[in-house]
Amino acid sequence: MEIYHISAECYPVAKVGGLADVVGALPKYLNKKGHQAKVVVPGYDNKFTNENQFEVVHNGKLKLGWFTFSYTVLKEATDKLGFGLYLIAIPELFDRPNVYSYEDDTERFTAFQIAFLNWLIESDQYPDILHCHDHHTGLIPFMVQNCYNYQRLAHIPTLITIHNGQYQGWFGFDKMHYLPNFELSRAGFIEWGGMINPLAAGIKSAWSVTTVSPSYLEEIMYAANGLENLLRYEREKCVGILNGIDNEVWNPKTDPMIPANYDLKTVKQGKQQNKEFLCEQFKLDPEKPLFTFIGRLVGEKGADLLPEIFNNSLREHYNEINILVLGSGDSHVENQLNSLKPHFEGNYNAYIGYNEKLSHIIYAGADFLLMPSRVEPCGLNQMYALRYGTIPIVRRTGGLKDTVVDFGDNGFGICHDQASVFDVNYSISRAVGLYDDKKRKKEIVDFILQIDHSWEKVAQEYLTIYNTLKHT
Ligand code: ADP
Ligand code: GLC
Repeated sequence: MEIYHISAECYPVAKVGGLADVVGALPKYLNKKGHQAKVVVPGYDNKFTNENQFEVVHNGKLKLGWFTFSYTVLKEATDKLGFGLYLIAIPELFDRPNVYSYEDDTERFTAFQIAFLNWLIESDQYPDILHCHDHHTGLIPFMVQNCYNYQRLAHIPTLITIHNGQYQGWFGFDKMHYLPNFELSRAGFIEWGGMINPLAAGIKSAWSVTTVSPSYLEEIMYAANGLENLLRYEREKCVGILNGIDNEVWNPKTDPMIPANYDLKTVKQGKQQNKEFLCEQFKLDPEKPLFTFIGRLVGEKGADLLPEIFNNSLREHYNEINILVLGSGDSHVENQLNSLKPHFEGNYNAYIGYNEKLSHIIYAGADFLLMPSRVEPCGLNQMYALRYGTIPIVRRTGGLKDTVVDFGDNGFGICHDQASVFDVNYSISRAVGLYDDKKRKKEIVDFILQIDHSWEKVAQEYLTIYNTLKHT
């Protein structure tokens, strides 16, 4: 089967969060099972684009309302990622370093989707499945079914995966003329709450909808930033599939980014060596338990709670614990996290920014990973933590609920119900107790190192859906 994954992010091409990790891994594992999965992302002006070889496979033009843009489709020349990678370069809109947060994001991602379909309609062979990811590609299922230009594509099954229902890509009807012509009576398919809503358009028009964990699917029936009723209406075509992780990239035994590699036999020494490396770099004490938070510093992740949580725990367990944060996002939270440093020198540090290599070293060297998320559609950090023998401390929500069981319930993690300062401080205290119980901690670390969340298993669930759609 030939499957096109269309997305704004893909690791290692362009990454902001977990969306990139999923799009950079699932296609690879579909290919290992004998299929032809390809990935299409915009051509950003970033390190990956500038340091790799590409072949031009298509030149075209697209219309966005009254504007015309030229675009080029570039194929990565070596197929080294394990899938065919195609970049759609639209210089005026994407020749910039970042993925998101430009004023013209509506124009950028609408143009990207139109360019993709213009290219596809001209190719001599059509794929079996179009797999879209999040709102940046949510107009594709609508356009293939309704725009006159794309009638020849209307038979191709479309699937949209909701990685994050909070962001929907809303824009006003004054920009409806950006879309290639369609029968106006169909405009209801792109509308939700009086706006053009690309995520809603994808949910309404795609043949199938997936969420990135079963629990998140249940949750969005009641809390989906305004899309609850739509999702309940479309419930029949929705499936929750827990994400996998790329066990080749995330493997403590072979990971080239960490100072000391380890496996089940050497985990104790290996983790300690990585911890010592981190502690030296961040002036912490390697004899104490190391807690960490890695992620986007935004409300969904509960990041606004972190400064108070850290302040409380560092006082309650004075000089008994270390905390190291890696993240960026809300500047107020960034400042608060930085301003804690002088108060807890030797026990606390924060790296404000994005650093892929450092994230690997922290997963390897930390004892506990905090995820006090308010919303977590899946969450990959807790799965990376498990793979590296780091015990996750999570709020029971979305994918966290599906992947972590509290050690008090014969499980291997630490769970709490509220995204509140109190609950997280209580969990940290339980973790300090667990750290001192060397035998129990060792049993848990040995157990979590062997949990298998690989895409190897999960890719099959997507194949089952693709097959059903293909034969519908
Ligand atoms: P989300 O996609 O909502 O941000 P996920 O848990 O699915 O959350 O994935 C986050 C991904 O981004 C993980 O690969 C994590 O290691 C990575 N990440 C997040 N923040 C940073 C950072 N500041 N530096 C390095 N990696 C980060
Ligand atoms: C989103 C979600 C996160 C999920 C990721 C990959 O960014 O916030 O929970 O793990 O997508 O699906």
